[in-house]
Amino acid sequence: SGMFTYDPGFTSTASCDSGLTYIDGEEGVLLHRGYPIGQLAENSSFMEVAYLLLNGELPSQDEYENFTYTISRHTMLHDQLRGFYQGFRRDAHPMAIMCGVVGALSAFYHDSTDIADPEHRKISSHRLIAKMPTIAAMAYKYSIGQPFLYPDNSLSYTGNFLRMTFGVPAEEYEVIPAVEKAMDRIFILHADHEQNASTSTVRLAGSSGANPFACIAAGIACLWGPAHGGANEAALNMLQEIGRPERIPEYIARAKNKDDPFRLMGFGHRVYKNYDPRATVMQKTVREVFDALKVNDPVFEVALQLEEMALNDDYFVEKKLFPNVDFYSGVILSAIGFPTTMFTALFALARTVGWVAQWNEMISDPAQRIGRPRQLYTGPTQRDYVPFDKR
Ligand code: CMC
Repeated sequence: SGMFTYDPGFTSTASCDSGLTYIDGEEGVLLHRGYPIGQLAENSSFMEVAYLLLNGELPSQDEYENFTYTISRHTMLHDQLRGFYQGFRRDAHPMAIMCGVVGALSAFYHDSTDIADPEHRKISSHRLIAKMPTIAAMAYKYSIGQPFLYPDNSLSYTGNFLRMTFGVPAEEYEVIPAVEKAMDRIFILHADHEQNASTSTVRLAGSSGANPFACIAAGIACLWGPAHGGANEAALNMLQEIGRPERIPEYIARAKNKDDPFRLMGFGHRVYKNYDPRATVMQKTVREVFDALKVNDPVFEVALQLEEMALNDDYFVEKKLFPNVDFYSGVILSAIGFPTTMFTALFALARTVGWVAQWNEMISDPAQRIGRPRQLYTGPTQRDYVPFDKR
């Protein structure tokens, strides 16, 4: 039929107007509200970037303090949600728990479900941003059998998250400033990325007027896949499996072999046909964290050599495949102490900022209508029902 544009995977369909994030994939440029990601990663904080994405401008000192204070007032989870965690198998993937718990939040906030009311949308957005660290840290604590830690609002957003994750009630937990900074920067690098699969999922779910917590749970489900946010976990698993630089050529060969489904995880991108600017910052941050913690992980050397070999290989050059945000993040996260299964949960935590900002933008857009793609029908033409004895 000539009625619709056929665009599987939406490679050329713009689904909305957006003033949040700009990407020039050919040049490797990423801007949030006009500010380059490199400058934000270097000078800003995750909370400031959250404010910027939600409100359109960088905050004044007062606005910033008010915002961080407001977020800190929403860090606790309803105590009934503890019981929700107990319902999961101990070995449940943290992303399974995240989907479930965030979806369950939709049953708790009946005071703010009028999505036509900007104040209601704001409270829901703040609650989501504030509770994600608590939810993610509890998923981790549950998996290792340690008691949940309540948030400590005297700490920064990121410091509090590190304490809830790695602290124990029996001891003081001291946040290491370099780790806090690296973690915060990783959150900045994941905050938003325009109409990627999970963000489009949140928008599509939200376009029907659905509850915001349920919409974000849908985004988390989409992010989980290895082609999307799940790539950070898959990338580190791959680097560990490669183990030694001598084995890199074997994996490059596999990635090039069209009969082998294997892909270099953390490589390639739908939009970037150049170096992902987030990967540049990420690679630099690996060194800073190693220096601060006085550690070294041989997988970093494997990653560097894998990158170099791929970037000098015709296959990767012709297809314009470069490292993406997920290539180096796992090396840092594992040095900080996170197990690979937590990596995508951290991505979800940070991307919640982008999801809620995009969701708010969509709801306040007068052109907003329910998202409803069309199809090209390829099934049988009309035919008559046939009873069993005639089939
Ligand atoms: N290793 C080997 N070959 C690749 C890779 C890779 N990582 N990525 C793409 N290709 C090849 C692919 O086989 C295809 O070749 P051909 O044209 O001969 O069929 C060509 O490059 C184009 O790939 P595509 O799958 O058509 O491109 P896409 O835009 O649909 O997919 C992608 C983008 C990110 C899903 C893909 O590059 C991929 O699977 N990468 C590995 C997973 C990954 O790192 N994902 C993270 C994305 S970044 C941010 C996030 O986390 O979401």
